[in-house]
Amino acid sequence: MADTVKQGAGLRNVVAGESSLCSIDGERGVLAYRGIDIHALAEQSSFEEVVFLLHRGTLPRRAELAAITQQLTRERPVPAATVSVLRLFPPSIHPMTSLRSAVSALGGFDPDANDDTPPANARKALRLTAQMATVVALVERLRKGREPIPPDPALAHAANFLYMLTGERPRPEAARAMDVALILHADHEFNASTFAARVAASTLADVHGAITAALATLKGPLHGGANEAVMKTLEEIGGPERAEAWVRDALLAKKKIMGFGHAVYRTEDPRATHLRRMSRQLGEANGDRRWYDLSERLEAVVRAQKGLNANVDFYSASVYHYLGIPTDLFTPVFAVSRIAGWTAHVLEQLGNNRLIRPESEYTGPRDVEYVPLDRR
Ligand SMILES: CC(C)(COP(=O)(O)OP(=O)(O)OC[C@H]1O[C@@H](n2cnc3c(N)ncnc32)[C@H](O)[C@@H]1OP(=O)(O)O)[C@@H](O)C(=O)NCCC(=O)NCCS
Repeated sequence: MADTVKQGAGLRNVVAGESSLCSIDGERGVLAYRGIDIHALAEQSSFEEVVFLLHRGTLPRRAELAAITQQLTRERPVPAATVSVLRLFPPSIHPMTSLRSAVSALGGFDPDANDDTPPANARKALRLTAQMATVVALVERLRKGREPIPPDPALAHAANFLYMLTGERPRPEAARAMDVALILHADHEFNASTFAARVAASTLADVHGAITAALATLKGPLHGGANEAVMKTLEEIGGPERAEAWVRDALLAKKKIMGFGHAVYRTEDPRATHLRRMSRQLGEANGDRRWYDLSERLEAVVRAQKGLNANVDFYSASVYHYLGIPTDLFTPVFAVSRIAGWTAHVLEQLGNNRLIRPESEYTGPRDVEYVPLDRR
């Protein structure tokens, strides 16, 4: 019995539903969206193409790509009320908390707020995919006491995000690195936040409610919060020469080393392959390979001492750092991408819905006598 409970703990290896969005072969390290290998997407596509692929099922033709790009561009602005909501938060609040609250509030101001028909849900899914980047940029600017920067319709989604964040139009290699990071994080099967979104959607809660549940779940350091924790680890270690002793001490203290290990992959996380390369390239372009060199060393040490591989969050940390993104904004940036997958999963769940309601294995006492209050 104890074995059964251990095996099922955390729903590991449990098939919890059907999906045609994303497949993972954890043994071979293969990830595909709608059957298309992540390596091909990372090398050749754009975030806009991936949004179309996830939402609509196939790669867009030229005219379809132009149309979805235009729609995403048109949907970028958020209502003034969202800005007012964000201005209420003190700068000390974690940006994931502001983001989660702002997206929940956005649900009330959405033009389709009271319409949960399939066409309205599809519109909300695309609108939220466009708006997530705007809200994250707003969170960052407002908490630093800076004024919002309106989206630039001439820029692609990734480049525009960096522009709204920093006020500067990014160099082509930075824009492409952001685009690839968005492609790589866009979906990942039944991960914790996506599953949370599907559970909420299965109750016929609205799209914004389901995405709020996903955002709440993404914040945790065992999930999306790991990229932020990785950067803090790198800063704490300080230099490659200290990596070995740091890892030895951390493992002796039974600490989890952030950015390593995975619930599904037993080989290298295929997303880490691209992020490692981008980290090196951005480090070289910035004339500062420090974070890349330290990451590379830490990866080698953790592999040698514990046999664990780097996951998606490990090299995301130095990539985002090189892109000038503040550390506590790393997890919100994850959401800028993952919103594409979350919304696709919500639409898929609603398209063939059955309330998600598993059972638990009861481990408490049985047939316990009720003792009246004055006899306890
Ligand atoms: C992602 C994660 C939660 C997967 O967990 P899981 O599938 O439940 O794997 P387990 O926690 O059962 O790990 C199996 C063993 O490896 C160890 N392990 C796994 N990840 C580890 C890590 N990052 N650092 C140190 N040890 C780790 C566990 O302690 C366990 O060891 P044990 O058998 O001696 O108890 C886990 O690897 C983790 O916490 N990683 C760090 C956080 C992170 O990077 N999250 C982002 C994931 S994309």
